[in-house]
Amino acid sequence: MNINSVVSKMTLKEKAAQLTQIQLHKDNYEAVCELVKKEAIGSVIVAANLTAGNTDRTVITMAQINHIQKIAMQNHGVPILFGHDVIHGHRICWPIPLALSAAFNPELVKESYTYIAEEAKNDGINWSFAPMLDVSRDPRWGRIIEGPGEDPYLGEKMAEAVVKGFQGDGDSINIAACAKHYIGYGASEGGRDYHKAEISDYSLRNFYLRAFRSAVRSGAATVMNSFNEISGQPTASSKYLLTDVLRGELGFEGFVISDWAAISQLVRQGVVENEKEAACKSINAGLDMDMTDNCYFNYLEELINENRVAVETVDLSVKRILSIKEKMNLFDEPYFEEKPYSKEKHRVSAREAARESIVLLKNENNILPLDKNSTVCVMGDMSLDKRAVLGSWSLDFDIDETVTIYDGIKSKCKSCLYFDCLTPKDATMDEMSQTDVIIVVLGESDKITGEANSISGIELNEHQKFIIKSAKRTGKKVIGVLAFGRPRALYDVIDDLDAVLYVWHGGSQIGNATADIIFGDFSPCGRLPVTMPRVTGQIPIYYNCPPSCRDEDGYYDKSLWKPNYWDVDSSPLYPFGYGLSYTKFTYSDIKADVTKLTLQEIEKGKGFIISVRVKNMGAVASKEVVQLYIRDCVSFMTRPIKELKGFDKIYLLPDEEKTVNFHIGFEELAYYGQSGQLCVEKGDFKIFIGENCLVKRSITISVI
Ligand code: BGC
Repeated sequence: MNINSVVSKMTLKEKAAQLTQIQLHKDNYEAVCELVKKEAIGSVIVAANLTAGNTDRTVITMAQINHIQKIAMQNHGVPILFGHDVIHGHRICWPIPLALSAAFNPELVKESYTYIAEEAKNDGINWSFAPMLDVSRDPRWGRIIEGPGEDPYLGEKMAEAVVKGFQGDGDSINIAACAKHYIGYGASEGGRDYHKAEISDYSLRNFYLRAFRSAVRSGAATVMNSFNEISGQPTASSKYLLTDVLRGELGFEGFVISDWAAISQLVRQGVVENEKEAACKSINAGLDMDMTDNCYFNYLEELINENRVAVETVDLSVKRILSIKEKMNLFDEPYFEEKPYSKEKHRVSAREAARESIVLLKNENNILPLDKNSTVCVMGDMSLDKRAVLGSWSLDFDIDETVTIYDGIKSKCKSCLYFDCLTPKDATMDEMSQTDVIIVVLGESDKITGEANSISGIELNEHQKFIIKSAKRTGKKVIGVLAFGRPRALYDVIDDLDAVLYVWHGGSQIGNATADIIFGDFSPCGRLPVTMPRVTGQIPIYYNCPPSCRDEDGYYDKSLWKPNYWDVDSSPLYPFGYGLSYTKFTYSDIKADVTKLTLQEIEKGKGFIISVRVKNMGAVASKEVVQLYIRDCVSFMTRPIKELKGFDKIYLLPDEEKTVNFHIGFEELAYYGQSGQLCVEKGDFKIFIGENCLVKRSITISVI
């Protein structure tokens, strides 16, 4: 198909309509059909309100969507893109993206998203507003649950996995992915949603852009702008960010959609007087499609006629959108077809993903795993929950699919009592004392995570603390199963718990996955994708910070004249990358094939092969996440104390030993330096390999 010739035949009104996304929901179906007949609408978002994935879309059927598509094809010959927030599942729910990150298993994530795509497509969705790639260091921010966590490298891996899972590996696109929110949304000040972000160019390139760069490289069809401003410029009106950086530096060739009403919001943000000016600024900045605002639809024609927007600018945006539609083969095959899929296969995948994402934080005296002959008492407000454990963006999910944590546990052990323990009374306490162990299942509502759901403190609430303390008072061993969407500060309860499993908002299979681990059918192998503070006041606390003028090793040193607090230990409760298993792994024999390479060799693509031997010393087969961190010892600009630059999740039988190899080349050694260009500087680099970011085992290589 010749896109240039299609565009050349379009009227200005048709072009403006092609750059417009409208809402579709149960109450406006007829109106949408009428509008699509009249105007060459580019896209429809299946959504009743501004959190599309949080509204029930089952009321719109595939037949209705095909009908709308037919009207578009018959009247304008251009297919419509049907978008929706398919964030971590569609009917079956996989763990929230932050938990999927904790699995440190991109292959598993990619596979999960191919299944998720099957479900969404069967509901008439061919464009998902995911992955969310906002690196964030602030667990108060509700949307931290939707992203990869605090680490850019993990963000890169997640970006690739989700984009390829949705779109497929080849050139044609299955479901279009949307890398969002571009850019800096995760740095909203104080963790308050929609708030401003202050990000230097150095941090932008070295931290926040990296996952987006990876999404672009992986072929992401679309990018969504973020609501926030950075240093005085809302992203929706920033030519620098949307064109110079995104297209010029990152090489993005797809199209950019605004976030919900992000164009008209420029008026509220005070950079334009009215919606017409907002449309003018955004289109000239490089924002191609307008989500639900109608600013482009209403004003582009006028703006072109006034010579304030060049027709070539609009043509370019239309061509970008048509190219994606062509890549999706929509001109030839615009309609959705019911394609049966195996629900059981999806359940198995969701269970696998959930158990790989669970992080064992504490296991005093190896109390876990429990014997299946144990009598256990389960208490706590998340035990029977079917909804909150699915997390945010969850109205699409089939709630009957949820296996509760209580049901999961009950299915595996001899005797399981449940105590509704809103106020543990003495009688209850006596009964509890008859059991072998108490499992306290606590968590947070999905209503206080996700968009517009930030919180000011991440400590557990008084009731949750009371439940834990009451369980402890029985004198029994107490296991905490914590179903939260974000890292919580466990400082004042951790000593009352003998073991802690952080199960996140783990999705439909959370109950089975938790029970698999509690009773030893699966050894825990999730690792923290974000630092866990002791108390809220430590935020922001993250591992990849630069050395301070008083401490080359960061903020973990307790001594005087260091970047410390007087009232709390300066280290986090649990560091990035941390997580236990039911076995012990030893690391040995870390070596490099060569220890010196010239800068020219590195620039030409040569690299170091760093290897390490990892051995399973215990009696249980388990996976280990072998993590590689780099420290650039001396550089023109300060570099992080450690930066994750490789990981490998390996499976080892008891006594088994494996060699794990990592390639360290330009990509891993480089950073965006003074000039904003990616560069490797000569000098020494320390390479650390081990079980989490506190690893000390290292080898030094040099670029000469
Ligand atoms: C959110 C986006 C989402 C969009 C459509 C916005 O409020 O910020 O992440 O894709 O709504 O639902």
